[in-house]
Amino acid sequence: MPEPTPIDKLTEAEARAELSHLAEVLAAANRAYHTLDAPEISDAEYDALKQRNAAIEARFTALKRADSPSDQVGAALASGFGKITHAVPMLSLENAFEDSDIADFEERIRSFLGHSGSLAFTAEPKIDGLSLSLRYEGGHLVQAATRGDGAVGENVTDNARSIADIPQTVTGAPDVMEVRGEVYMSHADFAALNTRQQEKGEKPFANPRNAAAGSLRQLDAAITAARPLRFFAYAWGALSAPLSETQFGAIARLQTMGFKTNPLTFLAESPDDLLAHYRKVEGLRATLGYDIDGVVYKVNDLALQARLGFRSTTPRWAIAHKFPAELAWTRLEGIDIQVGRTGALSPVARLAPVTVGGVVVSNATLHNEDHIAGRDAKGNPIRGGKDIRVGDWVQVYRAGDVIPKINDVDLAKRPADAPAFDFPARCPECGSEAHRAEGDAVRRCTGGLICPAQAIERLKHFVSRGAFDIEGLGARQIEMFFHDRLLPIRTPADIFTLAARDRAQLARLENRDGYGKTSVAKLFAAIEAKRTIPLDRLIFGLGIRHVGEAAASLLARHYGDWPGFEAAITAARPGSPEWADLTAIDGVGAVLATSLTEAFQNPAERAAIDALVAALSPQPVEKPWLDSPVAGKTVVFTGTLERMTRAEAKARAEALGAKVAGSVSAKTDYVVAGPGAGSKAKDAERLGVPMLTEDEWLAMVDA
Ligand code: IVH
Repeated sequence: MPEPTPIDKLTEAEARAELSHLAEVLAAANRAYHTLDAPEISDAEYDALKQRNAAIEARFTALKRADSPSDQVGAALASGFGKITHAVPMLSLENAFEDSDIADFEERIRSFLGHSGSLAFTAEPKIDGLSLSLRYEGGHLVQAATRGDGAVGENVTDNARSIADIPQTVTGAPDVMEVRGEVYMSHADFAALNTRQQEKGEKPFANPRNAAAGSLRQLDAAITAARPLRFFAYAWGALSAPLSETQFGAIARLQTMGFKTNPLTFLAESPDDLLAHYRKVEGLRATLGYDIDGVVYKVNDLALQARLGFRSTTPRWAIAHKFPAELAWTRLEGIDIQVGRTGALSPVARLAPVTVGGVVVSNATLHNEDHIAGRDAKGNPIRGGKDIRVGDWVQVYRAGDVIPKINDVDLAKRPADAPAFDFPARCPECGSEAHRAEGDAVRRCTGGLICPAQAIERLKHFVSRGAFDIEGLGARQIEMFFHDRLLPIRTPADIFTLAARDRAQLARLENRDGYGKTSVAKLFAAIEAKRTIPLDRLIFGLGIRHVGEAAASLLARHYGDWPGFEAAITAARPGSPEWADLTAIDGVGAVLATSLTEAFQNPAERAAIDALVAALSPQPVEKPWLDSPVAGKTVVFTGTLERMTRAEAKARAEALGAKVAGSVSAKTDYVVAGPGAGSKAKDAERLGVPMLTEDEWLAMVDA
């Protein structure tokens, strides 16, 4: 393993830089894995990055980014399938790697619930496949959807019907029942499928999971039917009646209905029992005949699960305890520098292809120049101080299974003439100076919008699925239009003048390669349709550094509409009330606020934003929770709460659209005071803020 700076030794600046880098690397990995079904790094590598990100965030809580990878599940959808909005979102799982993480997991649950009695958990293998949600109505399978981005998945109903493990009808089920589980392929079936693929002259699959994903996500259901897919049920979504009072009971009930459930599902009474089961499953792993990458632990009592609820993308009541990483040696054939949307120069290792844990790896991240030189951001040696040179034999690693990374270098095999890598001081795309700011681990191109790489990446981001998602205008078309001399698209605003410019030039696009009358009309209609755009997508689409999807959604919810957002961000300067309001949003830190306000105050950026928005009708945010009596209210909890912990009270209030503040001001709507309330209760009295007991509060939110 490389030797990253221990988390407790990181300075704040290093932590900030590393979080920024991790956000970019993990976003790229998510895209490769979820949207393209073509992972570029191992799951273990991915998990290791995610874990380090979470550990840094845990120490530097104020630095957690609004687009933190910890808050993201999956990635955008591939096209071709109908979309299904999940009635209950399909979430991800928090990962654990060390035994001590499991004791922490139990302790967090106990402290969230204020629970000191017995606490049972289920433990079952984490199947390495892809998750699927099956909807039954009146006992009949009516719909099957992939996870997609967690909120919206792909409609794969016809394909799912051909999987033998999935019952078409069930008896004794609630009228509406969504069963969730994992589609996977056995080792034997995978080997036979790859033999058939090769015989047909088709490309073999890299591993059983890719084969399962590729087989389920076939537009032709007949192809899926010919592929040997299997399914284990382990969870559920919408239900018209509960399945059981316990996780274990619910799984047993699914089994009686005819679903396959994993035979290694176990009921544990303590964290020690969980660890014993983990060791047992780890020992059996090689004999199971299908891939697993860890063991999943879930709180058994479903009433407690309901109280624990969810963070933005993971339940508080479950955790995945992953198995450790895999390694392989290969030759480093080259180092490419990629220039990203925010100008970051990212070195990428081009490797002689090598199989690591069943996946062929030919690229690995090299992070930044310090990493190549063999030191961390503080100048301390990593890999024993060995630098990385083109021509070297390098050890690649992937932990559980996703972004490969270089772990070690074999100096004995280094060619005598291999020169040290000279990291460019200029942008390889536009020649502008590539500057490395104080505290930033990454060198960035200073060309801004004049750098074609940045401009193209920003446009690609603008049309991407989480942003404007314009049908018929993807990365490939953006490349084409960007370089087009007659109908160029260089800024987002240019997209919305395309049709008018085209008309002025006598329908040029129609006669071009690949475009006919219909496709041009479709493209223009797709663009036209996106003039009406939800505020969060617009904010995300601007592609401002640190403003990811999660942050854009927080900002949109906070400001409500474009004029409010625009006025506030334009006026916000450190020290101003607008700045205080912006940075008070839970999830918006100084880094994000600085990046956002700087973009709005930069004349060129601002001109591009104004030109874009002039062509659009941004839609104010819909507030589905508006029915809740506490929506938009600011609440302060003080004193001892007796029926729930502070954490539970806060999570619940926020889920109902309330803001939970730490101190009482004239803006506070309610103070919920338990026994022992002190100065905050006095403040409330002085300011005339209504005070509620815990019971009154619960009666109000339960109403
Ligand atoms: S429970 C609310 N149980 O792991 C979370 N997930 O990393 C419900 N997975 O998206 C998931 N085996 O695709 C659960 N026994 C198991 C699992 C399992 C595999 C997958 C699932 C999930 C992913 C999260």
